[in-house]
Amino acid sequence: MTEQRTAFPPLPSFVDQATISGMAAYDALCAEAARDYEGYWARLAREHIAWKQPFSRTLDEDDAPFYKWFGDGRLNVSYNCLDRHLIDGNADKTAIIFEADDGMSTHVSYRELHEKVCKFANGLKSRGIKKGDRVIIYMSMSVEGVAAMQACARIGATHSVVFGGFSAKSLQERIIDAGAVAVITADEQLRGGKRLPLKSIVDEALALGGCDSVKDVIVYRRTGGTIGFEAGRDLWLHELVASQPAKCEPEWVDAEHPLFILYTSGSTGTPKGVQHSSGGYLLWAALTMKWSFDIKPGDVYWCTADIGWVTGHSYIAYGPTAVGATQVVFEGIPTFPNAGRFWDTIARHKVSTFYTAPTAIRSLIKASDVDPKVHPKNYDLSSLRLLGTVGEPINPEAWMWYYTQVGGEKCPIVDTFWQTETGGHMITPLPGATPMVPGSCTLPLPGIMAAIVDEAGNELADGQGGMLVVKRPWPSMIRTIWNNPERFKASYFPAELGGNLYLAGDGAIRDEHSGYFTITGRIDDVLNVSGHRMGTMEIESALVANPLVAEAAVVGKPDATTGESICAFVVLKQATPSGEEARKIALELRDWVAKEIGPIAKPKEIRFGDNLPKTRSGKIMRRLLRVLAKGDPVTQDVSTLENPAILDQLSTPA
Ligand code: WTA
Repeated sequence: MTEQRTAFPPLPSFVDQATISGMAAYDALCAEAARDYEGYWARLAREHIAWKQPFSRTLDEDDAPFYKWFGDGRLNVSYNCLDRHLIDGNADKTAIIFEADDGMSTHVSYRELHEKVCKFANGLKSRGIKKGDRVIIYMSMSVEGVAAMQACARIGATHSVVFGGFSAKSLQERIIDAGAVAVITADEQLRGGKRLPLKSIVDEALALGGCDSVKDVIVYRRTGGTIGFEAGRDLWLHELVASQPAKCEPEWVDAEHPLFILYTSGSTGTPKGVQHSSGGYLLWAALTMKWSFDIKPGDVYWCTADIGWVTGHSYIAYGPTAVGATQVVFEGIPTFPNAGRFWDTIARHKVSTFYTAPTAIRSLIKASDVDPKVHPKNYDLSSLRLLGTVGEPINPEAWMWYYTQVGGEKCPIVDTFWQTETGGHMITPLPGATPMVPGSCTLPLPGIMAAIVDEAGNELADGQGGMLVVKRPWPSMIRTIWNNPERFKASYFPAELGGNLYLAGDGAIRDEHSGYFTITGRIDDVLNVSGHRMGTMEIESALVANPLVAEAAVVGKPDATTGESICAFVVLKQATPSGEEARKIALELRDWVAKEIGPIAKPKEIRFGDNLPKTRSGKIMRRLLRVLAKGDPVTQDVSTLENPAILDQLSTPA
């Protein structure tokens, strides 16, 4: 299928200076990995990481699929991300350009960031927080948010960042599952000119109960807004760090030491705490900065993700700092003060490398159709040299607009396919080597043994769609699900596939001619709304927890801007409402879901029915619901349907 689409060869000017220059260089790395898999990774780990104690064993498969990488090596991630640059003469280089919501910006050098992190780390230590403890970070985009993560890494505490858009209940569930000893937060966050609460949500989460493990709540003062303060438990960050020494000896940890846990949605049950390592994770975060983004000393890099998601971990907090890059950290939203904010920010900070989500691109295309003043052509984007996308498939139209209107046809686009579980990029064009095809993430990075298999784990011929798997373990992969090793095995190394293939959860197809991969979407009940992962079961559980609701089923509906949107089919305990009453209850339920999970999980559409379409054995026919959500006519066989009359009722929104 990709064959009919146009390929865009890499630009010669880019190839000339690229870290991986030309397909021959890519092929050579792949051949090295194929020839001596462990030797390949060992070489890279020695070249790209500063080890306190070198490792002697590269890959330990004894307890597969609980793989260990560089097991007896010792290192500190924060040392690699900060101290290294003080030694190599980059101390005064800008690490972070903080672009605040209101457009003010601050530059923080590596020396300053190092000092901030050391004081923060000493502050945590003064509270008795130590190696192996879990710390929840519930903050918005800020230098302090990045410093909080690095400070945890410095003392060997395992952080778990919770996105600031999650509700008190979601926060509480994560605090309990992680058994956190402390929560780091801010008084409030600023987004789009509005103040939104953070600390009060932490208070609410802790008041829900079960969080006795939490001894400290550390509060960064962002807005100065009024908040509740509980003596003995709550501390101001500025007071905590005020008298701390500016140096903090890193805690040297084993390569396998858990750097962080990040909760993400799966197809069943509660969110999974994806556990990552220190050594293997850091290696890939650093290396993909050099390979996928071709990062160079003079680059100004900007990833628009939030630290609450994995992209903000690997490609804000760790990757860019590991390679000593200058990066923009952005507090605001793409549409404030207007939809030209991204382009204006690129122009002001002379951003050269820009990484964002397809949803953002699509919404900015729409915005510039409505208001031509915010079209990228009105801004000086000549500093750009590379563009990237992440989080969801990019449609070829959006790709072309990004390529021509933003990149002026002179910037390669890296369409990076990866996941919370993979720690870093997996399948992506290399900007100085791979001819690009809009909508395809092209080829696996060297050393990533991606393949496409059928339901029994047999590899499929090119051109046939199937399930995306990875055949060999790689250094930055998920280590386990926190507190749930059995679920880790069942979710990612299912016995049906033989137990030794990593199952990504995505469908994919590989082109017969080019060998290029195209991701066709999730094969499980996970939705991707604006690049955010959401489990349908989670939203269903939230809905049925409402006293009005008897039954609920949630499906994804294709959406021109957000990729997918959430459509909920609901059966109430009372008679099925219509008109104004239906709209009122729908509104109530949407707010309910926002309170249960967070505003990002609000169904865009709710449809009420007397019943849900079920097979005679009582199974909800989700396939049919997806057809109804889309508004397509039902053409499939509904003879197994217990109650066919329900289809009409469910075909219109409340
Ligand atoms: C989807 C985000 C197509 C995919 C880094 C994956 C993509 C899920 C791409 C992971 C891409 C991510 N093309 N689909 N370039 N990148 N996805 O864990 O379905 O939030 O499984 O990690 O996003 O989402 P997650």
